[in-house]
This record gives sequence, C-alpha cells and structure tokens, in this order.
Amino acid sequence: MAARAARARGCFLAKGPISWLACPVIEATEGQLLPRGPDDVAAAALGRPTVRVGLLGCGNVGTALARLLLTDARRIADRTGIQLELVKVAVRSATKERDVPGVERLITTDALGVVRDPAIDVVVEVMGGISPARDLVLEALRSGKPVVSANKELLANHGGELWDAASAAGVDLLFEASVAGGVPLIRALRESLAGERIHRVMGIVNGTTNYILTRMAASGVNYQEALAEAQSLGFAERDPTADVEGYDAAAKAAILANVAFGAKVVAGDVYREGISRVSGQDIEAARRLGFVIKLLAVVESDADGSLGVRVHPAMVPQAHPLASVSDSFNAVFIEGDAVGQLMLLGRGAGGPPTASAVLGDLVDAAHNLTVKGVARKLELREVPLRPIDDLRCAYYLSLFVADRSGVLAAIAGALGRHSVSVRSMEQDAAEPEPVVAGLARRDPAQESEAHLVFVTHPAYERDVQACLHELRQLDAVRRIGSLVRVVGP
Ligand SMILES: NC(=O)c1ccc[n+]([C@@H]2O[C@H](COP(=O)([O-])OP(=O)(O)OC[C@H]3O[C@@H](n4cnc5c(N)ncnc54)[C@H](OP(=O)(O)O)[C@@H]3O)[C@@H](O)[C@H]2O)c1
Repeated sequence: MAARAARARGCFLAKGPISWLACPVIEATEGQLLPRGPDDVAAAALGRPTVRVGLLGCGNVGTALARLLLTDARRIADRTGIQLELVKVAVRSATKERDVPGVERLITTDALGVVRDPAIDVVVEVMGGISPARDLVLEALRSGKPVVSANKELLANHGGELWDAASAAGVDLLFEASVAGGVPLIRALRESLAGERIHRVMGIVNGTTNYILTRMAASGVNYQEALAEAQSLGFAERDPTADVEGYDAAAKAAILANVAFGAKVVAGDVYREGISRVSGQDIEAARRLGFVIKLLAVVESDADGSLGVRVHPAMVPQAHPLASVSDSFNAVFIEGDAVGQLMLLGRGAGGPPTASAVLGDLVDAAHNLTVKGVARKLELREVPLRPIDDLRCAYYLSLFVADRSGVLAAIAGALGRHSVSVRSMEQDAAEPEPVVAGLARRDPAQESEAHLVFVTHPAYERDVQACLHELRQLDAVRRIGSLVRVVGP
C-alpha cells in the first residue's frame, strides 16, 4: 500500500525520506523501486508522478481510452503534469482482435487480478452491466484504489453503496461519462454549480432516440424506418429496447437526481415512457403547432421539497434551446436560482467522446492520488418523490374519432368534467389505419374518421388520465393517438 501510494506520487523509495524529485519506479525487491521504462525515465526527469492504470473492458469506450493512453501519454503528461501508464486491460475474450497498437501485451481475462494487482493505482471500469462490474468496483474501492466508471446502469442502481464504499476508503469514484458521454456535465453540476439552488435539469440524454426523432421530423419517415436507419448506421442496437423505451435515459435521470439534487434516487424510481408510440402525424402536428418532439429526462424540484424524476417524449417549443439539438447529440438544460439558465451540448456517445470524459476523470483521480486528496463526497439524502399523477403541465392530445356531428360536444364534455381546458384544437385528415395481413379491410361504407389534435392549458396528470379513460368509453372515439406532455416555463 505504501509502495503503491509512493509509486503514484512518483517517489523513489530509497533509504531515508521520500523524495519528490526522484523517479517513477517499479518494485525490484521489497522496498526498492526502480524506473520502469523510457516514459518513466522521461517523467522522472521532469519530476512528474507516474500513475498506473488498470482498465476493465476494451470495447467501444475502452479501446478509445487505451488508444489515448498508449499513443498520447506524453502529450497528456505535458498538459496535466501526470504520467498515466496503462498496465493491464481485462476483457472477456483474450483472442478478439483489438484495434490499438501495443494493447495485446496488456490483455488479460482475469479482471479480479487487475483490481487486486498491487502495481495498479487506479481502476477504470468500462465493461458495463452490473455483474461482475459491481463486485470489481467495490473490491477496488475497499482496497483503497480510486475508480473511474462510465457505467450508468451500475451507478443508477448501486450508486449509493459504491459512493459509501469510496467515502469509507477515502478514495475517488468518478463517473463523468455515465451521463451524456463526452459532455462535461457531472463535473459542472458537482463543482461549478455545487452551491447553486437548482430547480430543474432537463436533458436529451439518449442519442439513439434523438437521432430517430430528428430523422422522423426531417424526412417524414415513420418510426420503424427511422429506427432501421439508426440501426444500419450503428446508432441503435439490434435490440433497441433500452434506448427507445427510455430505460437508458431513466438511469441517467437517476444519476442527475443524485448529482444535481443530492437525492437518493435509483433507476427504478424514475417514471418512464419511450418513443415507440410517437407517430409521424404527431411529429407533423408538433411542427404546425410550433413544437419539436424530444425524449426528455426531467428532474425538477417543487416548492415543498419533493422531486419529480421522469423520462418521456415531450413537446418542446421551437424557440427553446433544446429544440435545436438534433441527430445523436445530447444536451442538458439547467435552471438555477442564481445561475439562471444554461445548456451543455455535445456528443453523448461514441468511443472517443466517452473516452475523453473518462480520461478527464482519470487525470483528476490520479492528481488526487498524488496529493493524497479526494473529490468532495456525494451527499445523498431521502427526498420525497412526486408521483406522475401530481404533475401539472399542458398536454398535446391526439384522438381518432368518427367524423359525424355531436362528436366534438361529447369530447368537450369529457374534458370539462375532468377540469381539462383546451387551448387550441385542430382537425386534419386521418391516416388510414394499417391493414393487417389476413384481416378484412375496413368496410368502405363505414363512416369516415377524423384526426383531432388538442393542446390543453396546464392540467393535472391524474385529471388528464381520468379524462382519457372516459374518452375511451365514448362510442365516437375510435382510438387515442397519443398524449405528449408540453414543456412549460
Ligand atoms: N459506447 C458508448 O458510447 C458509451 C457512452 C457512455 C457510457 N458508456 C458506458 O461505458 C461502458 C462500456 O461501454 P462500451 O460501449 O465500451 O461496451 P462494449 O463495447 O460492450 O465493451 C465492453 C467491454 O467489457 C468487456 N467485458 C464485458 N464483460 C466482461 C467480463 N465479465 N470480464 C471481463 N471483461 C468483460 C468486453 O470484453 P470483450 O471485448 O472480450 O467482449 C468488452 O471489451 C458501459 O457501461 C456503457 O454504458 C458507453
């Protein structure tokens, strides 16, 4: 432990007191440390500490990080004053080809061995998932090693336990890349806005869904076509459920609630709806009405101290900064008492942008190790969570109804009985319902269908849901198209 800390500080453990001018070293025999290689010697000449890194995972993010560490270490050291040395890389398959020169000699399938290796000072976890990542991260933290992780699933489900372990061991657990990839968001919230009274954090934190919605709006393709295009370009997984159904964004919303509000929130606490029911007609109606549909992660505090944490498609006014965030970009809009409004925008995914965020954390963790410091602890407390029923906002409602007299009056009656007042209404031609193979076409003699689009004044979600329940019972209402919440002030 002493040898590892000394090594991290770039110290030469000679007889007598530790020298800061001494070179980075390896342990030759117990208590004696020697220079490792040319980079160590160069770092030593400049009085730079060398910090040794163990990497868990060498996929999209790990490969990009390994490339940076193996090919750009000198420049990083010039910029930061710390020599980062990649020592071992744990993967599942030792035989898979890795597109990083020089990485083969570092590859191992023994991830626990990497965590336990006394020659490793800092562990970077970019393997993803909960198991074995959780056990490995806990083992590293408990043995006094700082950890950098990009793993939103792990943090959104076990963050409390991991931050406690880091705090107990007095080491860093940094996770910039876990939300919005390359966008320096966590650091902005934890450091720059540390004392700010934040009201609301609202973000486009999933690039896949933003790409799909952008394509639907720009080229008029339907959801399935846009998804297929995203998959062919590598923006969406073969199984896109985690992205399109909002699970990925919900994990990030939980982490945002932790960091921006200090609230104990896990992924399962987050109200969640995905984009798979957003239709081309909704996108087109949104455009006519002056909105853009985005999948938003929203965390907002109420005057009573409760917190709303939710993920759902939302009508964003075209003039709002989030409305112009297109393709696979991520952006997070923050509103606070003193700071007012600000937005951070950038690449939310992809190997190199995510590795850039991991590298920033790694430099911080390495620096803290060399000065025996640690990042401020993330203080989490129980906060009452506001159920979605208590949400009050305006709504976009699309209904497919029989095109006959008296229908509007029946709908208006239902809306009125539930205290939902209408701000605007428009009618357009309904798209014919899809014909399912093997089923008869709709009877041409059947009365025609109208598509009604309403935007309401602010109303409570519970009233709107009760109203939808009544509307479904009406003979004239063929189906509810969609209900989309409107972003308000
Ligand atoms: N990709 C992004 O754009 C992005 C953005 C932000 C955050 N993240 C997060 O970063 C993490 C990594 O994402 P990724 O896209 O790089 O994942 P990935 O491409 O699937 O890579 C995962 C890596 O971990 C290794 N691995 C998996 N299970 C292992 C085990 N049990 N033991 C040893 N090695 C194991 C895999 O080994 P093999 O190569 O041998 O299969 C692979 O190298 C995830 O938590 C993800 O949520 C990713």
